[in-house]
Amino acid sequence: MDTATVQRFIEGMKFEAERTSPREGFPSLPDIPAGRYTDPRFLELENTHLWHKSWLYACHTDQLPEPGSFLLWKKTGAPILIVRGKDNVIRAFYNTCRHRGGPLVKTPCGRLDGLVCGYHGWTYALDGTLVNLRDKRDFPGLDLSKRSLIEVRCEQFYNWVFINEDPEAQPLLDHVHPFFEYFRQFEPESWRFVAEESFDVKCNVKVLLDAFLEVYHLKSIHQNTVDRFLDHRGTTIALYRRGHSIMVTPNRRPDWQDPGTRGMRRIESATVISTRNNPSFNFYPNLVAPVDPSGVPFLLFWPTSNTSMRIECHWFAPDWGGGAPPELWKTRIANFDRILDEDLQFGPQIQESLMSPGFRGIPLSYQERRIYHWHEELDRRIGVERVPANLRVQPLLERFYEN
Ligand code: FES
Ligand SMILES: [Fe+2]
Repeated sequence: MDTATVQRFIEGMKFEAERTSPREGFPSLPDIPAGRYTDPRFLELENTHLWHKSWLYACHTDQLPEPGSFLLWKKTGAPILIVRGKDNVIRAFYNTCRHRGGPLVKTPCGRLDGLVCGYHGWTYALDGTLVNLRDKRDFPGLDLSKRSLIEVRCEQFYNWVFINEDPEAQPLLDHVHPFFEYFRQFEPESWRFVAEESFDVKCNVKVLLDAFLEVYHLKSIHQNTVDRFLDHRGTTIALYRRGHSIMVTPNRRPDWQDPGTRGMRRIESATVISTRNNPSFNFYPNLVAPVDPSGVPFLLFWPTSNTSMRIECHWFAPDWGGGAPPELWKTRIANFDRILDEDLQFGPQIQESLMSPGFRGIPLSYQERRIYHWHEELDRRIGVERVPANLRVQPLLERFYEN
């Protein structure tokens, strides 16, 4: 992160802490229509145009350690096989045999030398090409070269692997610009996978995602945890094209350090934005990364139905020198889970409310503008002409974008 950007965030926090009203010229945000959280027609549009066409985080390269290592990934419904080839390139394919759709891999992860369909034995190389089939004489004229596995876009942000089911998608690094450059300060090539966990919650995915796009709730639900060390009134927000955003919240005391990170390796090159403040990135749509020089959870928000979701936490840290992650990580993750419990507590009750006549829409404050920004982008992804007129959000924030 260059000096000018660091300075902009620092000045932003000072401005936010001292202001007595929203930034001059900032519009009053119209209510978000309730149906965007509940109307099955809208949620179907969201499913088709957002979840099946976005760059979505899948795994870290540590989880595919050697040629033939694979993961079976089904977050958007379609079975997608992510596999490291003999050439060490990580690729993704539908786990769908080109014969009659049999599965190539049947377990969530593992290692294989080649991909053999469980149904009639068609055999594919790790790069997806069909190399052999049983009783070839009974498929006269079948051109094997035209029957490779169907590839899914698979690209990396440092050692983090993302997939996108849209073959026309913009390249990942263009899509997440300028985050690639902002992350460089953390020496991310040296970061390793620590652990992952997940929690199912009975609410629409946006109910919880919204909670991670603002700090307006700190004084209520995190009164005895996060609120003690972060000052939400100084939070500054940067909105980017393509729906991404960052919020940076100042520590109450600049020299404060999370006791849970003591004894852990820290990246010395990290800027003051993360050493004395708390930055949180939203890679649109569903990855939230509150990154610290000693480690980061990638928080992932997945719909499991219109009224239920799963939150996953994938933890990464600067290389600790080989072997299993240090024991300190158990405590750090347990501490984080306690805070996460606070965030999850109202999910099911909010969902009950959403489905009741009592829910009429969402008035968002200036502090919650990242949520409005998220919804504006959703309409762009769906194509505003497809969104029923009464469910649209008015585009208002583009003039506040950073890039
Ligand atoms: S479905 Fe794969 S070999 Fe027949
Ligand atoms: Fe929270």
